[in-house]
Amino acid sequence: MPIHTAAAARGSADRGVLAQVRLATRGTHDALDALLPVGLRDLHDYRRYLGALLPLAEWLAHGDRPDWPRAKTDWDDGQRLDCLRADCAALDVATTPTAAPSSASWPHWLGGCYVIEGSALGARLLSRHAAGLAEEHAEVRGARRFLGHITSDPPRWGRFVRLLDALPEGDAGAATSGARDGFAIVHSRLAPGGAPA
Ligand code: HEM
Repeated sequence: MPIHTAAAARGSADRGVLAQVRLATRGTHDALDALLPVGLRDLHDYRRYLGALLPLAEWLAHGDRPDWPRAKTDWDDGQRLDCLRADCAALDVATTPTAAPSSASWPHWLGGCYVIEGSALGARLLSRHAAGLAEEHAEVRGARRFLGHITSDPPRWGRFVRLLDALPEGDAGAATSGARDGFAIVHSRLAPGGAPA
């Protein structure tokens, strides 16, 4: 069973918003598995990975709206985007702008956060792959800020799950839509023919 499918199946016994978002995006998880099936095999994979997460991080950092300031006060990551930009610059990864999803709301934005917060779970494994790449490629040594940052606070995932599950049941659809938008951004950059890394 692919890694992401296993995580989705494990969560399907719950009934909270997280479980609903997981189930609804299970197919997208599988599609991501297929695009990076064994993690970061080489420098090309690492550049693709960083280039695919950059537009998602940009959307989440800049997609807030004045009528839902809780994004900044309750769940902002003020460093993630800077780390990612620095790694992309160090590895000369193309940073072509991607259109951010419209009609955002607090639950929609939190759904988008699910994609990047969840990716931090897998990032612990990817950090080991990047460490191996750094032995072969000197430029990778100075380009591991993002992975270092998102793996530096393991309890963050638990805090995020509590925030997502605190949404009213009626917001599950908007959260799922945000997660779908987030996955679509990543997928469009990772897929063959996506923006060059
Ligand atoms: C490319 C961008 C990626 C995104 C957006 C992403 C997204 C996610 C999300 C949302 C989760 C949380 C699932 C849940 O518990 O509901 C997750 C978990 C995970 N991902 Fe990924 N992922 C990505 C790449 C990868 C890669 C390349 C690998 C390794 C081959 C990987 C390995 C994992 C692992 C090991 C987990 C934890 C599964 C568990 O809880 O047992 N991910 N990922």
